[in-house]
Amino acid sequence: MSEPKRGRFITFEGGEGTGKSTQAHLLGVRLRAAGLDVIVTREPGGTRAGEKIRSILLDPGDDPIAFETEALLMSAARAEHVAKVIEPALARGEWVISDRYVDSTYAYQGGARGLSLTALRRIQSFATHDLMPDMTILLELAVKDGLERRNRLPTTTNRLDAEAVAFHERVRSEYDSLAKRDPERWFRVSATPTVEIIADQIWREFSRRFRDWLPAGATTSQAN
Ligand code: TYD
Repeated sequence: MSEPKRGRFITFEGGEGTGKSTQAHLLGVRLRAAGLDVIVTREPGGTRAGEKIRSILLDPGDDPIAFETEALLMSAARAEHVAKVIEPALARGEWVISDRYVDSTYAYQGGARGLSLTALRRIQSFATHDLMPDMTILLELAVKDGLERRNRLPTTTNRLDAEAVAFHERVRSEYDSLAKRDPERWFRVSATPTVEIIADQIWREFSRRFRDWLPAGATTSQAN
């Protein structure tokens, strides 16, 4: 029996309130409608241990963890996610869509917290066995607008949301550098239009890049 064709790995990145989770979900819906096997997952989290680590990371307690601890816990959750969810799914030929991945660590722990990017790259290499996404979609929005949107949501604010505007500006600026350095992997899209318009723009670019991977007719299929 021949091995299944390896699946493709897509990640969504962006600052707070950019609607990444909604867009990750909608891309999953479209791919499933095209007849593909798809997993939509998120970081930090996506596994039992990862969700426990997530609660430590996002707990706005009064004794905040050190930046280095934060970077290592994000990466530990990611190691579990790659080993238990992402890599096995790709090997089975499934498509994996993740809401955040290594670039979040570069943007938040590197750009915004100021930790060494060289050290963070080594840790990511160890944690993920150098698994990189085939496409990364960056949802872009002015920091002020993102934080305003986030404040309108009924969910409680987590420790990273609560950081100052300057912190989120550094996140945005690091994403900008990452995307500029590797335009073949990144696709930048404005998060200002409606959810449907953004989803259509993502789908247009996505189906162009993966034309050869999608079943015939899939490139015109609509989201439900
Ligand atoms: P979450 O509530 O999932 O926010 P969002 O909807 O913005 O993804 O919280 C995840 C938070 O963790 C978010 O503020 C970004 C941060 N984060 C890092 O700082 N480093 C990382 O490597 C990852 C994956 C997330």
